[in-house]
Amino acid sequence: MAVRLLSKVKCLPGIQGVVYASASAAPAQLSDFELQHKTPVIRKQKNIPIAQYGGRHAVTMLPGGGIGPECMGYVREIFKYIGAPIDFELVNIDPNVDNDDDVQYAITTIKRNGVGLKGNIETKSEAAYVTSRNVALRNELDMYAYVLNCKSFPGVNTRHKDIDIVIIRQNTEGEYAMLEHESVRGVIESMKVVTASNSERVARFAFEFAKRNGRKKVTTVHKANIMKLSDGLFLETSRRMAQEYPDIEHNDMIIDNCCMQLVARPHQFDVMLMTNLYGSIVSNVVCGLLGGAGLLSGRNYGDHYAVFEPGTRNTGTAIAGKNIANPIAMINASVDMLEHLGHHYHAGLIRRALDKTINIDRVITPDCGGTASSSEVVDSIIKNIGRC
Ligand code: NAI
Repeated sequence: MAVRLLSKVKCLPGIQGVVYASASAAPAQLSDFELQHKTPVIRKQKNIPIAQYGGRHAVTMLPGGGIGPECMGYVREIFKYIGAPIDFELVNIDPNVDNDDDVQYAITTIKRNGVGLKGNIETKSEAAYVTSRNVALRNELDMYAYVLNCKSFPGVNTRHKDIDIVIIRQNTEGEYAMLEHESVRGVIESMKVVTASNSERVARFAFEFAKRNGRKKVTTVHKANIMKLSDGLFLETSRRMAQEYPDIEHNDMIIDNCCMQLVARPHQFDVMLMTNLYGSIVSNVVCGLLGGAGLLSGRNYGDHYAVFEPGTRNTGTAIAGKNIANPIAMINASVDMLEHLGHHYHAGLIRRALDKTINIDRVITPDCGGTASSSEVVDSIIKNIGRC
């Protein structure tokens, strides 16, 4: 029954590729940022013109809560040292306020700048009508795809070596619809929303990503055995998309088994495609396999905007202000941002210095088995800039 229903769901016509993934098909001189703004796939929103001043880029900086502000301080220190052509527009969002004026302002500045760098924004209110600021930001900017590159750091001691997985997560709907209500007293219903159009765009994104980046396999992660309509639609859409990419192997796996397989035999995975909540859980599992919350960075993409942030999106509130937080995740996010904007020279300077610090000098914070403080890691990166 479910399958018959799904086969009647029509796909959006005319989606020819995703902006980020189409980089290699476009003239070499266009950066991902330029591609995103000059050749968007679907013009869903009317844009404010993107601000650019004399070859420099303005970027919205949202430090968020917990360790966010100190990590942003490290990014600024490194950018200042290398003279990165970025002007940050700082927007602080007050977690204690229930209205969304700060968030709306943040959204406007990202629309103006095209790009943001963020920590995790806290939403302290537990009132049902106050929605997560992080979710609101992604939804309003229609950043439908999230990409987490999970590559082992040779200098960080972990059970499994040489992991190289890319997680692609639907970023705007699914279990994060935030549509909950009490239908009768004592019974709460929570809606999981899966649409054909968003399933199709993120599936296209994943297969295009795999094709452009020389990846061999896409695994769709789901729970279609239980959620036959919602996850069924997501799975059917990715299966149909796979037929357009015969050179890329496609398989699927139930989320429960997927978590077990990841912990036991992670090397079987290449690109992984999934809905929103599974994406969050699987991202945390893989970050854990690679050394924890402080290393990896994640990228939010829509047709017009991109926001870069630490991969697990948590706040690290308990370790804030102690000079022990691992600054690498936020620094990696800032390098992703530089690459997206086309500042490859500056990105390379930081990337190489970071690699030497972690993998050769092994200047590492306690969460990854080292003894260095956050500022010692940053000092080491700065010392290594231009020397490797
Ligand atoms: P948390 O912020 O408490 O972090 C989990 C663990 O990782 C803690 O032991 C923390 O000390 C450690 N950690 C985090 N970042 C680190 C860093 N840079 N260096 C060293 N250690 C680090 O995570 P929790 O409790 O999951 O979430 C806290 C807040 O973040 C909540 O408001 C939650 O809603 C939000 N959040 C968490 C997400 C997650 O994937 N864990 C996703 C989205 C939001």
